[in-house]
Amino acid sequence: MSSIPQPVQFGEAADQISRSQPAGPCVLVIFGVLGDLAKRLLFPALWNLARERLLPEQFAVVGFGRGDLSQQQFREQIRANLQDADGRRAGGAAEAEWLLSRLSFVQSDFTDADGYQRLAAALREVDQNRATGGNYLFYLATAPEFFLEVTERLGRADLLRQTEGRSRRVVVEKPFGRDLASARQLNRDLLRVAAEEQIYRIDHYLGKETVLNILVLRFANGIFEPVWNRRYIDHVQITVAETLGVEARGGYYDHTGALRDMVPSHLMQVLALTAMEPPSSFSADAVRNEQVKVLHAIPPLGARECGICAVRAQYTGGEVEGVRLRGYREEERVAPGSETETYAAMKLAVDNWRWAGVPFYLRTGKRLAARNTEVVIQFRHAPLTLFRAASVELPSANRLRVRIQPEESISLLFAAKAPGPRVTVRPVEMRFCYRDYFGQAGQTGYETLLYDAMNGDASLFKRGDMIEAGWSVVTPVLEAWESPLSPLCFYPAGSEGPEASNELLKRDGYQWMPLK
Ligand code: BG6
Repeated sequence: MSSIPQPVQFGEAADQISRSQPAGPCVLVIFGVLGDLAKRLLFPALWNLARERLLPEQFAVVGFGRGDLSQQQFREQIRANLQDADGRRAGGAAEAEWLLSRLSFVQSDFTDADGYQRLAAALREVDQNRATGGNYLFYLATAPEFFLEVTERLGRADLLRQTEGRSRRVVVEKPFGRDLASARQLNRDLLRVAAEEQIYRIDHYLGKETVLNILVLRFANGIFEPVWNRRYIDHVQITVAETLGVEARGGYYDHTGALRDMVPSHLMQVLALTAMEPPSSFSADAVRNEQVKVLHAIPPLGARECGICAVRAQYTGGEVEGVRLRGYREEERVAPGSETETYAAMKLAVDNWRWAGVPFYLRTGKRLAARNTEVVIQFRHAPLTLFRAASVELPSANRLRVRIQPEESISLLFAAKAPGPRVTVRPVEMRFCYRDYFGQAGQTGYETLLYDAMNGDASLFKRGDMIEAGWSVVTPVLEAWESPLSPLCFYPAGSEGPEASNELLKRDGYQWMPLK
């Protein structure tokens, strides 16, 4: 087997902090500590970090939430959560106990000023007991309507002031706004109480190794970058397909839809990494500047173009392996006549020198035939003059397929001569699988993000202008879809998606890669 490549360090802190060192002293304060995100992802991620010895001795977690729990009951609940996190559990019992011994709870409503005074007192106590040095990372694992309220109240309780080298940071989850105007407003409002460097806007796709690997693939290898442009690339497909439906989130989802839920954040992030220019360094701002630039190069779709270049659809009932799956309108807390899309596809352009004329096709949906997140780079056909006389069929174009999940792999499709006396050209595949080289790590995807936020490395977090750039692309489509004339298509649960989405590519002479 080839030797394992050395890890690449991102971020401006990378010079000073190696990712094998524990994070600096700090207290992590989790708002919404009894919610689903903390339970399923944040605590298991902390447990994994503890196992990797990446949390410092001077560390503590303060949970902030509404539950009527004593300190002991709170710890028991988190202990039970950790035990439930089986698939993602990588830590050992000793690390779980280490973590639990550093937990405390402040019981409060997010809107109760007294709660923040009690939080300030709890933090002073933790600073004394754990030598955490007044460094606080506030993680807003709350509903979006509390992002601003909590941050403002932290400001009023004087918990955001960074004096004498103390760091005070706020991690904001998605969704960040509902459209361009509300995202702008939220950015403006947050910046009244905290500086941009204190705000860490999360996109959990940046915690996925394979998403980050797009950067390494492009910029740490000599062979891809020279062909990564309009001269060699024919078109690009970005897919984020899920088999899950809306589960228990019908209430949120029915007011959100696939476009808002996935495209401005995750799909735009993957597109930005795929299409950005090489940054001058891997410092947070250099990388983020290039990402914003490429998002700004996407011309917003006009109202008429939306009708042609964007597809919205909703799943109906279906059957997968003999199991009946209900339609979206039958899901809990979804309006029976809901017009919300659970699938969105669109064709975008990137109007710059590198990409002019290369279509980018994006699709995302729930209850599809397979879970599959991937980027497919389809290269132009070879001229094939050599084989003209040999009456061979035009072989498939070269294709680079970067699979992000569930399989983590990169494969290259190219033509080879099939054995035999006649010249027969067949497509064959060369494939690298993460698992084969690096094994399977039980990670949640939040480990790196939490660790980086503790260390003040913002390179994997979104700057305000990136969020707004993502919304600029999507907002015209949202507006067009609000028209009663905008058609909603349907697809059976467990299928490859709506026919209209296939048509979108067929018109240009292409087809989607099959999901399975
Ligand atoms: C979230 C969306 O941001 O991403 C969910 O709100 C979606 O609706 C999820 O299911 C997908 O994330 P992943 O990591 O499973 O691809």
